[in-house]
Amino acid sequence: MIGGRSRRDGPMMRSIGHRSRIAVAIAVGVFFGCVFAFLYPHGLFVSIPRVHSRTSIRQLNSSSCESSQGIHMLKLEFVAASEENAKLKNQVRELTEKLRLAEQGEDNARKQVLVLGKQQKAGPFGTVKSLRTNPTVIPDKSVNPRLAKILKKLALRQELIVALANSNVKDMLEVWFSSIKKVGIPNYLVVALDEEIANFCRQNNVPVYERDADEGIDSIGRTGGNHAVSGLKFHILREFLQLGYSVLLSDVDIVYLQNPFDHLHRDSDIESMTDGHDNQTAYGYDDVFDEPSMGWARYAHTMRMWVYNSGFFFIRPTIPSIELLDRVAGRLSRVKAWDQAVFNEELFFPSHPGYDGLHASRRTLDFYLFMNSKVLFKTVRKDAKLRKLKPVIVHLNYHPDKLERMKAVVEYYVNGKHNALEPFPLGSE
Ligand SMILES: *[C@@H]1O[C@H](CO)[C@@H](O)[C@H](O)[C@H]1NC(C)=O
Ligand SMILES: *[C@@H]1O[C@H](CO)[C@@H](O)[C@H](O)[C@H]1NC(C)=O
Repeated sequence: MIGGRSRRDGPMMRSIGHRSRIAVAIAVGVFFGCVFAFLYPHGLFVSIPRVHSRTSIRQLNSSSCESSQGIHMLKLEFVAASEENAKLKNQVRELTEKLRLAEQGEDNARKQVLVLGKQQKAGPFGTVKSLRTNPTVIPDKSVNPRLAKILKKLALRQELIVALANSNVKDMLEVWFSSIKKVGIPNYLVVALDEEIANFCRQNNVPVYERDADEGIDSIGRTGGNHAVSGLKFHILREFLQLGYSVLLSDVDIVYLQNPFDHLHRDSDIESMTDGHDNQTAYGYDDVFDEPSMGWARYAHTMRMWVYNSGFFFIRPTIPSIELLDRVAGRLSRVKAWDQAVFNEELFFPSHPGYDGLHASRRTLDFYLFMNSKVLFKTVRKDAKLRKLKPVIVHLNYHPDKLERMKAVVEYYVNGKHNALEPFPLGSE
């Protein structure tokens, strides 16, 4: 059909006509370029301002023959004024700098000496390493002599597992300490928040520390739910650290399958298990945010990581660690917030206007060894190879039916019951 043919020919014919018109335009452009280059060898745009400035100076002085001398004088005046200006600016800058240093300098310098010791030269390329293992504090027994006595007997290498418990979590606590005993870990302690739990521990030969009313504990510990107890734990932990001990803080919805002290690195202020479930979410990745309306710059790169689990972390007795505990406890006492969110924000947000960030060193524990219940029920139980791997602990943090799942974990890993994990759904139902 004719219509169809002409439609097919159309674009090609048009594109030939288009090209020849472009060629003509280029030729015309080159011609005019040559003409302008001949008439204005110094360029079209430079000459215009020069003419303009000359007339304006002439207007300043009626005598045209002295105009060049006038320009010279003006120039001299201008130079003098600029020099004066620069001098003033420098003085202002120096003063501001002095003021800033005076404000923050003394304190920072003192802190730096405290942390770094003496100044040193940087070594050759590839050999320098910054400090991540901060020095421990000098133990202060006066903080709590009674606790100091208990810890002296109980701790190994100045380290121990600590869990807080009230009678709301009695059943889980039993699975918890049974698993610890089974592995043969001697250095652990239950901080009993009520009399019933204290008695329960004593009956079962579990090391227990009872907080007295005169030790400043309020009623939160006795009656409080999970979150209230969480705020309290940062407060109590401080004393352990002040006494010079490293604490492996543990929730009670955790099953121990190996001794965790054999799997720590002890190089950071905080070593924590993660809520992440694979390499990326556990250890960090570049999460690209797409905003198409920005066109060329549509992709914004962000740093992302699943949070640290504030129910299982190893904390060394250092100044940054104690500062972390103080900051978290302080914020939880002022605002209603989830302690795990606060814990992570304090640990990770950098300094910014109006805020001084914490400078604590951090290490994320292996998420297959220090396993959360999402990893177990989503990945591990369905993977023939991963099923054979024995974690150090399993934390039932992702599931509300904690007690049943804890028992299933014991059945599977300790008693070798191969299908013990199968009846449970992936999430809660
Ligand atoms: C103009 O020239 C006179 C001398 O003819 C001089 O005294 C005067 O300062 C000049 N004015 C300016 C603005 O340069
Ligand atoms: C995760 O990281 C480990 C250690 O770097 C590596 O051996 C493993 O292959 C990684 N897994 C995946 C799925 O990328």
